[in-house]
Amino acid sequence: MSQNIFITGIAGFIGFHLAKALVKQGHRVLGCDNFNEYYPTELKSSRAKILKTLGVTVINHDIRNISGLKKTFQKRSIDTMYHLAAQPGVRYSLKYPKAYMINNIDGFFEVLEFARQMQSFKLIYASSSSVYGQNKKIPFSESDPVDHPVSLYAATKKTNELLAYSYHHLYNISAIGLRFFTVYGPFGRPDMAYYSFTKAILEGKEIEVFNNGKMSRDFTYIDDIVDGLVACLDLDVGYEIINLGNNKPEKLSHLIELLEKHLGKKASLVMKPMQKGDVYETYADISKAKKLLNFEPKISLDQGLKRFTTWYLENYS
Ligand SMILES: NC(=O)c1ccc[n+]([C@@H]2O[C@H](COP(=O)([O-])OP(=O)(O)OC[C@H]3O[C@@H](n4cnc5c(N)ncnc54)[C@H](O)[C@@H]3O)[C@@H](O)[C@H]2O)c1
Repeated sequence: MSQNIFITGIAGFIGFHLAKALVKQGHRVLGCDNFNEYYPTELKSSRAKILKTLGVTVINHDIRNISGLKKTFQKRSIDTMYHLAAQPGVRYSLKYPKAYMINNIDGFFEVLEFARQMQSFKLIYASSSSVYGQNKKIPFSESDPVDHPVSLYAATKKTNELLAYSYHHLYNISAIGLRFFTVYGPFGRPDMAYYSFTKAILEGKEIEVFNNGKMSRDFTYIDDIVDGLVACLDLDVGYEIINLGNNKPEKLSHLIELLEKHLGKKASLVMKPMQKGDVYETYADISKAKKLLNFEPKISLDQGLKRFTTWYLENYS
């Protein structure tokens, strides 16, 4: 059934792809973004421009004042809110911790308060694989302990899950938290390794490779993540936390080899030690997502990077 859907962080990487997919399925979509300068705003504006051509309303608005959109929510009778707006990035949190408190804690609190006041929409929000920290047991399962976040970013995402539970328990808010595992693809985030490595390889610049490229990530293609997000529309639960990952970790050194293959150019590597706040491996147990959302990742890292590099070359060459 067609729904009225609101997306926070709609001009962001995941928000943009989600909005496109929802419109395609016949839903009415609007959303907000504050177009902050964490990475070039031109990319966010170009995503918003494309969304507008598809009939999506994009409002320049900060989630810390989400209650200011009360009339919009009432007029459009919003059924579902996807809350994706946040300050992402693990390394940036070493330099700018306040950005995480403001956007991920204060912002999330305002979203929950708004949900409590409205009592009208289901909340689906972005958590992160980073909550698993340096857990040794793999793959990471939702039932594993996540009490040792090794970055401030991870601590804010875990806090979101706890706050959502309290609001669910106290005020009956429906809240589904999705732990995304390293999402990549066209229109992606320039701060992420696959994107910045592509830029550096093409420009003939050096790439800093941490921990000798021995770190592994469960790289998950954006379309697979979007499938999981969309499937949540039909999931009728009060509170749930679900991993969305590829269930196939790959070494950073392999990511670089694949980029070299698709770009037809060798990378110049500078080996660096492990960075504070980073984790050695991420690996999602997706059995819960399979069961609840029929989630089945389809795109391999090779195929996904082919699509990404094709997009990159078309847009930046
Ligand atoms: N991309 C990944 O690999 C990944 C992995 C795990 C979790 N996540 C989470 O998924 C969500 C979306 O990530 P993304 O990769 O699309 O990031 P993104 O930075 O591209 O998108 C987030 C958007 O939110 C907006 N925003 C930030 N603070 C805001 C505020 N206070 N008010 C309004 N808008 C604000 C930003 O301008 C940005 O456009 C985030 O919550 C992120 O933490 C992403």
